[in-house]
Amino acid sequence: MSKIEIEELISEEEIKTRIKQIAGDITADYSGKSLLFVGILKGSFIFLADLVRQAGVKTEIAFMALSSYADSSCSNGEVKLLYDSLESVEGKHLLVVDDIADTGVTLAFLTRVLSMRRPLSLKFCVLLDKPSRRKVEVALDYIGFQIPDEFVVGYGLDYAGDFRNLKGIYKALNI
Ligand code: IMP
Ligand code: MG
Repeated sequence: MSKIEIEELISEEEIKTRIKQIAGDITADYSGKSLLFVGILKGSFIFLADLVRQAGVKTEIAFMALSSYADSSCSNGEVKLLYDSLESVEGKHLLVVDDIADTGVTLAFLTRVLSMRRPLSLKFCVLLDKPSRRKVEVALDYIGFQIPDEFVVGYGLDYAGDFRNLKGIYKALNI
C-alpha cells in the first residue's frame, strides 16, 4: 500500500477559534444548568477535551462507543452500541459530542437510543459536517465546520487507526 498523502484543510488555530465560539454558545444556552457531555468514542476525544475546558457550565462526562466501519461509505444503517458509560439520564441535559456527521446513521441511531431514556433535553454537537453525504436526516445543534465530501483525518479522526493525533484537520488525498 502506498503512503497516504495529506493536505491541511483546517488549521489548529482555526479549530481553537471555532471551539471558543461554540463553547460560548453552549455556555449561554445552558446558563445556570448542568450539562452531561456524551463523547462518542473514539473520534470525539480531543474535541470533547477542548470543548469542555472552554465551556463555562457545570459539567459531567460520559462516553459511548458504537460499531464502526472501516469504510464508512459501507455504513448500512446497522449500528450497534459497543460501550455505554451512561447511568440514569432522567432529569439531565445531554449534549452528544461527535467528530463528524457523515451519512447521519450514527447520530440518528443515538437520537433513538437516548431519547427513549427520557433525558430533560438532548442536543448534538459535531466538529465537522459533510452535508452532501447525508442519508438520514439528523438535527445538529452545534457545528464546527461544514466541509466538502472529502475523507479527513486528524484532531481525533482516523484512517485505519492512524492520524488521530494530528493538531489540524487534513484531507487524505490518495485513499
Ligand atoms: P455517519 O456516517 O454519520 O454515521 O458517521 C460515522 C462515523 O464515520 C463518524 O463518527 C466517523 O467516526 C466516521 N467518519 C465519517 N467520515 C469520516 C472522515 O472523513 N474521516 C474519518 N472518519 C469519518
Ligand atoms: Mg465516530
